[in-house]
Amino acid sequence: MTTVGILTGGGDCPGLNAVIRAVVRTGAKHGFDAIGIRDGWLGLVAGNVEPLTDYSVTGILPKGGTILGTSRTNPFKNEADVQRLRDNIRKFGIDAIVAIGGEDTLGVANKLSKMGIPVVGVPKTIDNDVGATDYTFGFDTAVATVTEAIDRLHTTAESHHRVMVVEVMGRHAGWIATVAGIAGGADEILIPEIPFDLDEVTHHLRARYERGKKFSIVVVAEGAQPKGMAEAIAQSARTDEFGHVTLGGVGNYLRDELEKRLDMEVRVTVLGHIQRGGSPTAHDRVLATRFGVAAADLIKEKDFGKMVALRGDDIVAVPLEEAVANLKTVDMDLYKIASIFYGG
Ligand code: F6P
Repeated sequence: MTTVGILTGGGDCPGLNAVIRAVVRTGAKHGFDAIGIRDGWLGLVAGNVEPLTDYSVTGILPKGGTILGTSRTNPFKNEADVQRLRDNIRKFGIDAIVAIGGEDTLGVANKLSKMGIPVVGVPKTIDNDVGATDYTFGFDTAVATVTEAIDRLHTTAESHHRVMVVEVMGRHAGWIATVAGIAGGADEILIPEIPFDLDEVTHHLRARYERGKKFSIVVVAEGAQPKGMAEAIAQSARTDEFGHVTLGGVGNYLRDELEKRLDMEVRVTVLGHIQRGGSPTAHDRVLATRFGVAAADLIKEKDFGKMVALRGDDIVAVPLEEAVANLKTVDMDLYKIASIFYGG
């Protein structure tokens, strides 16, 4: 009998439970037992695990978050933790691990795989920035949430003749800002990949105003930076004393700067963790389920050290190494589409 340990690590996102369910159910068909590892790699270090049965995954498909809990624990920060993790893998008779996570979680999976531990990765993040896969689940749900927020902000922006700055998640890549910005008809989209020019942004918003559009929506990713002023948004506005990400840094900066430059009222909305919560869209449920089935199949084939990925319409297996090598930044052809509408 093969025992499969399943864990979810890093920031949560809608669709994690759909993967867990798919791995457990597909695994059962392959004759596997499943063990849930609590709170990401932390659970494997601490020996915090529980059996997962068909019954434990009943009804979790539409639920946001993760029934297993999550953490940002990286066992490689402490050598003793790696040994504890290995001891617990042996203790609980875990034959293979399905690690569902983003960059950091998959980075640990890759290192463990190189140490001979049988691991399969599943990419997740609302940010859609994991390399080697076209899309991660969680992203579509986040985009739907942000698009709805932009729609709502449009009406109040129009009534009050205001500029509304909407700060969305995306520390290193501006996928949410770009896709939700296009879907919501944003008048300006600012992303970490391209430092923004405040004068240019002001120029576009003023041009719109002069054309009779007395309101504007600016969507900004939390990691966006003004051009040539990398320090403009103080590091203290991005992380707190514990190193936690502080949202609102760039959003508030933009509000202050745009209000100085434009003769208009500017308001800022920081969507924050609302983007990570809620029930997954149908698209994310299907993608997450396909990933979970494929991960269980890889274990059956004993094809370890791989990550399941979406390429076009196909689910494929790629080396974990390839997945963690580079972050996936925004497709510039897509980004350029948004700029066609600036100043309009
Ligand atoms: O990595 C996903 C993400 O949502 C980022 O976009 C964001 O910067 C970060 O997580 C927030 O992390 P936390 O929930 O730990 O504050």
